[in-house]
Amino acid sequence: MSDKTELSVFELYKNKAEKARNDADERSRLVWAKDKRIEEIDRELSGIGMEIFGAALLGDEKREAEYKRLQNKLALLRAEKKDRLLALGLDEHYTDVKYECEKCSDTGYVGIKMCDCLKKTVRQRSYKNSGIGKYLESHTFENFDLSLYEFGEKRNLAAKNFKGLKQYAEEFSESTTKSLIIMGSTGLGKTHLSAAVAKVVIEKGFSVYYDSAQNIISTFERERFLRDDEKPVSDRYFDCDLLIIDDLGAEVRTKNSVSYFYTLINTRLISGKPVIVSTNLDGKGISANYDNRIASRLLGEYDLYFFEGKDLRGQKNR
Ligand SMILES: Nc1ncnc2c1ncn2[C@@H]1O[C@H](COP(=O)(O)OP(=O)(O)OP(=O)(O)O)[C@@H](O)[C@H]1O
Ligand SMILES: [Mg+2]
Ligand SMILES: [Zn+2]
Repeated sequence: MSDKTELSVFELYKNKAEKARNDADERSRLVWAKDKRIEEIDRELSGIGMEIFGAALLGDEKREAEYKRLQNKLALLRAEKKDRLLALGLDEHYTDVKYECEKCSDTGYVGIKMCDCLKKTVRQRSYKNSGIGKYLESHTFENFDLSLYEFGEKRNLAAKNFKGLKQYAEEFSESTTKSLIIMGSTGLGKTHLSAAVAKVVIEKGFSVYYDSAQNIISTFERERFLRDDEKPVSDRYFDCDLLIIDDLGAEVRTKNSVSYFYTLINTRLISGKPVIVSTNLDGKGISANYDNRIASRLLGEYDLYFFEGKDLRGQKNR
């Protein structure tokens, strides 16, 4: 991951605004090379700022007259600059600073409020850091189609799960400690709905991390060989507000894998941080594959969502 080299949002905005101003300066220099008078005009224009400042210190009667004079001077200079730019075949705004976002001039703020562009940037960052960036865009509650499930019992079950998970996501808050386990055979929308939950929770401003059980095990295995000065990647499994463990049961078991999961699940339970687990296993399968310390937590402490039906993977394309 490029976590270390990635610019902070603050630096990103600072650079953006700086670049916009440098680019404008560059355009000005080009124009000045062609028309000396425009350089003079620009100098006079920036001088007017100081004059306005000076006028503010004058007595009441004099001040108004001075403002009028400066306004006229400003208008004349601007008109002359415009004519000269047009004569060069350029746009009248050619030397203006062109910010990416006009609303906030690339500061990220409008007054004391976060600009929409900054909100979007923060959201995209969170998507990117979630482990499933792109997947989140295309697997949402909005495009989850209940009619794909066989009419009757199975569809009703899916509808109940959909509603419950959507509500869980929408009501997610600092005080959410409830963990969930989503069971069901392959291709029933478990990963899709986990991603849909992740997106909503991220948009509320929480940190979400998604990973498959297999990757989580691999990460822990690799970290047994970390140097002392390396920061474990697995920290994020413990630190994030919501952890999603996909496909529990599909991982290759190692001597230590059960104890990794135990540590992870137990630590999060104790610290009151929620987890969503999805798995092809049923209760029996979980008890058979994991020791009792894990099974009792998953089956006893987690809310259960269970899917039934035929694999939707093929059906969706028909
Ligand atoms: N109800 C649904 N509406 C729209 N698309 C769906 C729905 N359910 C599943 N899909 C799509 O079908 C594919 C398989 O779904 P998904 O990956 O969520 O299954 P899964 O239950 O996680 O299966 P597995 O156990 O194999 O991981 C995905 O492309 C998903 O977007
Ligand atoms: Mg899946
Ligand atoms: Zn903006």
